[in-house]
Amino acid sequence: MSMQQPGITQFTGLRVWVIGATSGIGEACAKTLITAGARVALSGRRFERLETLCALGQVNQCLSLPLDVTKAEQIDLAYQAIVRAWHGLDLLLFVSGIYIPLRADNFALAAAEQTVQANVLGPMRAVAAVLPDMLEQHAGHIAIVGSVAGYSGLPKALAYGPSKAAMINFCEALFYDLQPRGLSVHMISPGFVETPATAQNDFVMPALISPETAAQEILAGIQQGKFDIHFPKRFSRFLKFLRLLPYPIYFWILRHFVKI
Ligand SMILES: NC(=O)c1ccc[n+]([C@@H]2O[C@H](COP(=O)([O-])OP(=O)(O)OC[C@H]3O[C@@H](n4cnc5c(N)ncnc54)[C@H](OP(=O)(O)O)[C@@H]3O)[C@@H](O)[C@H]2O)c1
Repeated sequence: MSMQQPGITQFTGLRVWVIGATSGIGEACAKTLITAGARVALSGRRFERLETLCALGQVNQCLSLPLDVTKAEQIDLAYQAIVRAWHGLDLLLFVSGIYIPLRADNFALAAAEQTVQANVLGPMRAVAAVLPDMLEQHAGHIAIVGSVAGYSGLPKALAYGPSKAAMINFCEALFYDLQPRGLSVHMISPGFVETPATAQNDFVMPALISPETAAQEILAGIQQGKFDIHFPKRFSRFLKFLRLLPYPIYFWILRHFVKI
């Protein structure tokens, strides 16, 4: 089966909704898109950060749409505001996510529920909001930031890992349905990126990259119409290889080389 799906020739004038634009990877993507001349709707909970970002654009280039991804009605209202302003949307870029380190000895159900609400149901709510119009217009891009942590079980990720694994499966299933309908799905799997989310890590993060480099990888991948956008390759390819190994070898490598 062909994996071909539409890319994006240029971002100028494109109608993009970045959810999770107030920090880290999402903020870097939003800044790049604003500089490239896209019309950018910016979402996250921190209103003042959205306003600061908005001020970087020309008059009417950006929309500041504060919302909490755990609240479906807030996502729906924000999408309605986009449609009122721009009569549609070309690219949903869902970046928002939370990481609460959890191991067996501190596994807390409340933290797991919070993670699933934000990282699994959050993107599903946003996709549910935009899909009907995109299907009707036979065009549009849905890009979701997951993680290489979704490839296979890793330490300190008892809720985060499963939430990102769910997004891989969700993107695969979406691709199957949407590619024949002319829509593009972009499954984004970053390795370690230097952001407030990873600042809490107390171990050396291999192949750490900047949010700006992550944004370049993401936006270039979307422009090229790629489904599987993973980076940095030296790290993501290694993890893709690990998940193919038989479990005894997989866990042996984890125990010997991952000292966290
Ligand atoms: N950093 C990494 O190494 C790495 C690696 C792989 C994947 N990722 C993924 O990349 C994405 C961005 O991570 P990051 O490192 O850039 O993290 P970050 O700097 O902590 O940014 C997280 C973003 O998500 C938003 N967010 C969180 N909960 C939200 C909620 N309930 N409602 C609305 N917005 C919410 C935050 O906005 P507000 O706080 O303003 O709401 C913020 O804009 C996440 O999905 C993360 O899992 C990160």
